[in-house]
Amino acid sequence: MIIDIVTIFPEFFDLFLKTSIIKRAIDAHIIDIRLHQLRDYSHNKHKKIDDTPYGGGAGMLMQFPPFFDIIKTLKTEDTTVILLSPQGKLFNQNEAKGLAQKKHLILLCGHYEGVDARVESLVDMEISIGDYVLTGGEIPAMIVADTVSRLVPGVIHEDSAETDSLQHGWLKYPQYTKPESYQGFVVPEVLISGNHQKIEVWREEASINSTLQKRPDLIQEIDLTDQEKKILKKLGYPVKV
Ligand SMILES: C[S@@+](CC[C@H](N)C(=O)[O-])C[C@H]1O[C@@H](n2cnc3c(N)ncnc32)[C@H](O)[C@@H]1O
Repeated sequence: MIIDIVTIFPEFFDLFLKTSIIKRAIDAHIIDIRLHQLRDYSHNKHKKIDDTPYGGGAGMLMQFPPFFDIIKTLKTEDTTVILLSPQGKLFNQNEAKGLAQKKHLILLCGHYEGVDARVESLVDMEISIGDYVLTGGEIPAMIVADTVSRLVPGVIHEDSAETDSLQHGWLKYPQYTKPESYQGFVVPEVLISGNHQKIEVWREEASINSTLQKRPDLIQEIDLTDQEKKILKKLGYPVKV
């Protein structure tokens, strides 16, 4: 997968690209994340890319022509163009799964007061990372690139992504590592029993219980199996079995 990130602050991404799993995936040529300085597409000799909004109002807006030109340069028939925007569709794991199937993403980062509204007519989707306003689209672009990249086959162990929280709607079961006991805080006995069948049963119930305790709102979105309904009922959640 290729991810092109268009920004006026490419240096924002230095550590992101040079650290941990993303770095490994780039080095292994599983993903390619390319940074583009929007100012290189400025029509102004001082590389200015923003101006005051028509009709007045606070702040500076990013101009349309540099976005138009860079999209025209980078876009192919396999491209999905995404504008990071607080007005976009809320990003979640399901959206990430969909994007991980794509071959080429262009992520457009706004800044200041945002971008000239004509940019919206050039994009396939607008994505918001949450109902709050950041100073720029760089952190949202990193969030989208990171979340999508780890779902690209080969970036992390497939089992790991498959059992992650939210991947199938539920939160992940609680996990523990050594030591078995510390200052009276102990690991659930079943996990050290060596009985894999019992561990699977415990994990399924624990995953449902975590979701019920921490994010009950998620349950309404899940197409429940009979087994999940049974467990929910046992845990006191009102469900018809
Ligand atoms: C200060 S914001 C502009 C907000 C704009 N004036 C508005 O009211 O919709 C500057 C840029 O940050 C990015 N941004 C801010 N909050 C965001 C969010 N929740 N999700 C995605 N991008 C966001 C966008 O790229 C946006 O163009």
